[in-house]
Amino acid sequence: MGNGKCKLIIHGGAGRLEGKVATKEQYRVGLQEALHPSFETLLQEGARAAVLHAIRLLESDPIFNAGTGSKLQRDGRVRMSAALMDSVDSIFSGVINIYDVEHPISVADSLRGEVHHLLSGNEATEYARRKGFPFHDPITMSRFIEYRKALKNREKFGTVGAVALDEDGIVCAGTSTGGIGNETPGRVSDSASVAGTYADELGGVSCTGKGEHIINQAVAAQVIYRLRDGVPLKTILLDLMKEGASRNHEFGLISLDKNGRFGVRSTKNSISVLYALKDASHELDFTTGRRNLIL
Ligand code: GLY
Repeated sequence: MGNGKCKLIIHGGAGRLEGKVATKEQYRVGLQEALHPSFETLLQEGARAAVLHAIRLLESDPIFNAGTGSKLQRDGRVRMSAALMDSVDSIFSGVINIYDVEHPISVADSLRGEVHHLLSGNEATEYARRKGFPFHDPITMSRFIEYRKALKNREKFGTVGAVALDEDGIVCAGTSTGGIGNETPGRVSDSASVAGTYADELGGVSCTGKGEHIINQAVAAQVIYRLRDGVPLKTILLDLMKEGASRNHEFGLISLDKNGRFGVRSTKNSISVLYALKDASHELDFTTGRRNLIL
């Protein structure tokens, strides 16, 4: 496989909304450490393998709100959601409120081959055990302290995600989250829904921010369906963010279209998506100061 067409963009959530477990520089380093090996995977194994590699690395890094280091829900437990989709078969597979696994995105990937592609709660966790995913406690001390301090302070959100385009033109998008922190158990995030994660042969999207707002605007699916109508990615993102801002919505996204255009946008200046991207001629991250990026 060559590398002319290959593109990878990843995100680690939404800036100040991530809580206070890490500094901006730590987020930048964490994203870089996920970007480079995953880009190699993109070159060698294609889009889906690269998205899985990137998200697994971010799930393993305790500063990000996904996998190990996920935020605690109101009852002091961690429940995680993850999903992915690619243009090979357009199957959306995911887990909602799974617990005690190391890599929710790997369980989501495994569900692609099942009759039912989306499982939640106990059944998602039982499925993971049957498939050989071992017990893993994702609660870190930093998140536990954050939870104890912030019991009354809801609505901080965070997520990780990746979108890749490979040399064969295959697009894959994936998202993984520990939720918003202190949420009512049973809440369902956008991440394992087509509002938060979507991909087909025209492009891919992974969202971050307040799940309720992302679901209200059906963000990721809407981007792709407007691409189908022939609307340029830049116009779609501008329209969606304008609508989001007018509704006081708080979210951002990363996206890629089939022509390899990267797009990063958020509804408010105060929400900066923590992203990093790479292709044959560009390598950028959120510290470049380009909050709203179309490349
Ligand atoms: N976007 C992550 C969440 O709302 O759970």
